[in-house]
Formats: sequence, C-alpha cells, structure tokens
Amino acid sequence: MSSSKIRLGILGGGGNSLIGILHRIASSMFDKYQIVGGVFNPIWDENIDFANRIGLPVDRIYIDFETLIEQELQLPEDQRMQVISILTPNFLHFPMAKKLLENGFHVICEKPLTTTYKEAQELYTLLQDKKTIFAVTYTYTGYPMIRQMREMVKSGVIGKVQKIDAQYYQGWINPIIHDIEKRKTTWRLNPEKSGGSCCIGDIGTHAFDMLEYVSGVKIENILADLNHVYDDNPMDVDGTILLRCSNDVKGVICASQIATGEENSFVVKIYGDKAGLKWEQENPNYLYLMEEGKPLQVLKPGHEYNSKLSLDGTKLPPGHPEGIFDAMGNIYKGVARAICSEPFNVGEFPTIIDGVRGMSFIEKAVSSHKNGNSWIAIDENYTL
Ligand SMILES: NC(=O)c1ccc[n+]([C@@H]2O[C@H](COP(=O)([O-])OP(=O)(O)OC[C@H]3O[C@@H](n4cnc5c(N)ncnc54)[C@H](O)[C@@H]3O)[C@@H](O)[C@H]2O)c1
Repeated sequence: MSSSKIRLGILGGGGNSLIGILHRIASSMFDKYQIVGGVFNPIWDENIDFANRIGLPVDRIYIDFETLIEQELQLPEDQRMQVISILTPNFLHFPMAKKLLENGFHVICEKPLTTTYKEAQELYTLLQDKKTIFAVTYTYTGYPMIRQMREMVKSGVIGKVQKIDAQYYQGWINPIIHDIEKRKTTWRLNPEKSGGSCCIGDIGTHAFDMLEYVSGVKIENILADLNHVYDDNPMDVDGTILLRCSNDVKGVICASQIATGEENSFVVKIYGDKAGLKWEQENPNYLYLMEEGKPLQVLKPGHEYNSKLSLDGTKLPPGHPEGIFDAMGNIYKGVARAICSEPFNVGEFPTIIDGVRGMSFIEKAVSSHKNGNSWIAIDENYTL
C-alpha cells in the first residue's frame, strides 16, 4: 500500500493506555499522517484485538519492536514506516529509540526521553551525523497561548525576565502511596520501569521544559527537596526545586502527585520588570497579562493580535475552545513539516535537546536531594 501521507507506526499506546488516544487523534488532525501498524501491546491477542478495534489491517501489527524494524526494512522504501511514535512506559524508550535511529526511522518519543541521563546522551550522540527527525512530546508546548507567551516574552512585552515559576500539582498518587500493595500496581513507582524518579520524571520534567520554552532563559543550577512520604518508597512523589538561571534569573518548580484533590493543575508564571504572564493548563485558552496599576488583560487564541507561531496552532475562529488533543496535534504538525523538509519554526516541536536536558534535570534533582539539598549544575552543551 502506498500513500501520500507520512506512514506512522506506533509502539505502545494500546487500548489500556493513557496516552495512546491522544497521539492517534493528534496525528490524524491535519491529514498529514496515516497509522499503518505497530506494536500496541506486548500480549499478542490484545495487540491484535486493539488493531481490529481501531480498524487497522493486522498485516503490519508485530509481536515486538525488533520484529517491526526487521519486517519494515524488507518493504520498499515508499511503503515502509517513516516515523515511529514511542508511547510505552519509560524503560522501553531507550532500546526502542536506539534501534529505530540505527535503522533510519524518524522518532517521536514520549517524555521522559529515557530512564537515565547516560542513555539520553547516547541517543543525542547517535543522532548527530544523521538527518533523522527526533521529537520529544512535551505536549503542553503545543498550546497556542503557550506559544503566544513565548513570543511575548521574546519580543520584550514583559521587559527583562526576573522570576520564573511553574507549579504542577496532581493528586492521583495519594491513595496509592499509603497502600503498600497498591504501590506495586503502578509502573511509575517502580524504578526499573520508570527510572530514578516518579514525580520529577513524570511531571517535574514538563515544568522544566516549559519554563525554558516560554522564558527563553536556561536553567543552570538547581537545588531539590523531594518527598517520598515513606522510607520504604524509593520514588519521589513530590518536590520543590529552586532554580538559578542564565541572565541572573531565579525561579522555582513545585511538582506534586500527592496534592490531594488536584487533577492536572499546571500553572506557569513568568515575571519581567514591566509585566507578568500567567497560564493555567486547566484553562488553556486564557493567557493573563498583568501590568502594575492596569486592569488584568486576558488574551485568547485565534485573534489577530496573537503571534504567527500562536496563530499557526489555532484551527478554529476565536471562541471555539481547543485543548490538549490540539496541542499534541500542533506538535505532530511541526514534525510533519520537518520530515517533509518544509519550512518550520524553532519552537514548533520539542527536540532531542529538550529530551536530553530533561534527563539531566531529573537526575540532578535526585542527586541534589540525596546530597543534602546541594546546588547542582544542569549540563548545558547541546546543539542540533
Ligand atoms: N506528554 C504527556 O503529557 C504524557 C502524559 C501521559 C503519559 N506520558 C508518557 O507516555 C508514556 C506512556 O504512559 P501511559 O500513561 O500511556 O502508560 P500506560 O501504562 O497507560 O500505557 C502503556 C502502553 O504501553 C504498552 N506496552 C507496554 N509494554 C510494551 C511493549 N513491550 N511493546 C509495546 N507496547 C507495550 C501497554 O500495552 C500500554 O498500551 C510514558 O513514558 C509517560 O511518561 C506523557
């Protein structure tokens, strides 16, 4: 079967997953991709059942990712999968991404990029002499009003950035953490599947990437105080991290999965010497501009006053709320442009650099906490 669309394969993201539906809908949004196969589930019957359920022919549903790569490479280039989305638990990201890169596939990988910083560096090095596109889906950077926030900071609307602040609070782990049996049921609390951190790896990393994305400053040093709640739980479920950044900016990331009653409350604030900007994930179509002595201004998507980058992420006229599916759709759109060698803007999708810096952040946060809440540097030197 040959198609004018980009041929997309999917690893993970089966019917039982959280994130699969987001990627499937996002990839279909701009008529750029066609899902042609994948491995949705390591259990064969469930893998096939799911493919049937979403109407995919089963001839390109494979038993595991190694077989997928081997079989796809047998196909003529104009039929072979071009890009593969990795939507599995964290510990599979590295082996899958490594083998895909070695065999010439473009990759869209869920965050966190890997389970260790060393693995992330290895992927970065592997990518260096290749033309391969590698995206890491820090989904929230795809929201139009986040893109607007970035462009307003860049163009000086808030003056010199002087304070950055992200708070990402969820409460879902609270009932689990107090029950030793329930703790075994979530892979995010298992270091072998999740990596060295739960909360910071799962959501703190979104906050880190987002602050750098919107503020334009680089987070250079961090001091972390993490909370495991119980001594026999090796994984953090909450943390406060102080930030020292480029241009003498300071800031803070607060992340928690024991913030009882919170759902997905991700709030991002950037304060300059002229004004402040605030955005809340649970109300993503509002961007608040706060100026001393003036009434609060609320900016919304789709209006001409928004930047080109923001408008590019809006599909409908103002007043038609768009949400997380659309944010991920925008990331897929940017990746499609890159794969098709069409012009695209920096900031349309997060790259391997976001992924590798994210892994540096997670590991350094864990080290800072273990070393008596000491200041630790985030490694810097990554370019594409
Ligand atoms: N970008 C975001 O905002 C966001 C949100 C949620 C999750 N995530 C990330 O997405 C990834 C998956 O998270 P989730 O919550 O969907 O997990 P999940 O446990 O809900 O789903 C994991 C899926 O992977 C499949 N799977 C497991 N082993 C596999 C294998 N060997 N081969 C193929 N498929 C396999 C499972 O069958 C399941 O469908 C994680 O890395 C997580 O950090 C990102």
